[in-house]
Amino acid sequence: MKILVTGGCGFIGSNFIRLLLETRDYEIINLDALTYAGNPENLKDLENHPRYRFIRGRIEDSSLAGSIMKEVDSVVNFAAESHVDRSILKASPFIATNVMGTQVLLDAFRQCECRGVFVHVSTDEVYGSLGPDDPPFREDDPLLPNSPYSASKASSDLFCRAAWKTFGLPVVITRCSNNYGPFQFPEKLIPLMIINSLEKRPLPVYGDGQNVRDWIFVEDHCRGCLAAMEKGRPGAIYNFGGQCEKKNLEVVGAILKKLGLSRDLIQFVKDRPGHDRRYAMDAGLAMKELGWRPEVSFGDGIDRTVEWYIENRQWWERIISGEYLDYYRTQYGQ
Ligand code: NAD
Ligand code: TYD
Repeated sequence: MKILVTGGCGFIGSNFIRLLLETRDYEIINLDALTYAGNPENLKDLENHPRYRFIRGRIEDSSLAGSIMKEVDSVVNFAAESHVDRSILKASPFIATNVMGTQVLLDAFRQCECRGVFVHVSTDEVYGSLGPDDPPFREDDPLLPNSPYSASKASSDLFCRAAWKTFGLPVVITRCSNNYGPFQFPEKLIPLMIINSLEKRPLPVYGDGQNVRDWIFVEDHCRGCLAAMEKGRPGAIYNFGGQCEKKNLEVVGAILKKLGLSRDLIQFVKDRPGHDRRYAMDAGLAMKELGWRPEVSFGDGIDRTVEWYIENRQWWERIISGEYLDYYRTQYGQ
């Protein structure tokens, strides 16, 4: 069986390809545009693997998507613009990749009559924000996205649903909570805080730092995507979450504690516009139908993540010495 993984040079996609090559005998094509977030270094040790092929290109390129789709059975679509803050600064790349690109892949999948499934990797953010006493999100909750990023992901989810309803395409949608772990681009909370701590730079916490996210170690999410591909019911949506709700300040505190640093590094900065207050996932359906559950505790996951960033300084130094640092300076004037 041959799988097209899109966005495989990003954070979750690269962890997913690693998992596939280690635990399955599928052939893999990785289609990735290598945007600022795509980094071939993430798969350097696997680039000559006999069952792996990299193709540089955009998912919204219909002729490329069409020619690749002829070769593959299933698709796992990770490719996306993935950062909320960037979507607030400029939404159009989010529409081009997340919405248009997903539709191009769905069309190509249909035209080539692929025999497998189309797994679309989405996010808890499509459900909007929870109040402090609300139950966790369920798959049949309304879509109430609040950021341009989550609006684009909700939109792509709806095109996937439409492809299932209209054409009977075997589409499975997964929605996961906040991931963390090795290879995460240092614009997201956890890697940014680890790197700033290692560099003794201020840790910019938005607003009052009381926003809650449901943290999941990236390997747990990848196992979920694999289970969705192998066992998912066509037309189904599966929530994945870490069952690990934490306030941002708690997360930052855990990183500082692990590194033996003082909380004086924390700097409260102006809040993100439209900042969602709380996310939490009810993953009961995935547990029941896919036999999936998160396995890595937050303590173990943070230890492994902090250690990875300590041991892979060169990986992130290359990133922060370039384009990203400029972005960071413009945002926070540091
Ligand atoms: P990422 O930003 O680290 O990686 C995205 C990858 O997609 C990069 O390699 C990039 O080069 C590639 N890409 C972007 N535009 C492309 C295009 N037009 N064509 C081809 N490739 C393109 O993102 P991530 O954190 O690994 O997220 C992967 C997926 O998982 C996304 O769809 C995201 O919405 C979803 N997701 C992420 C999280 C999270 O916490 N990071 C949680 C739930 C869902
Ligand atoms: P982020 O990693 O951007 O993920 P998302 O917004 O998709 O959940 O942010 C996680 C939380 O951390 C969110 O509440 C915003 C907050 N945050 C900060 O307080 N400071 C930062 O520098 C960043 C990047 C995020």
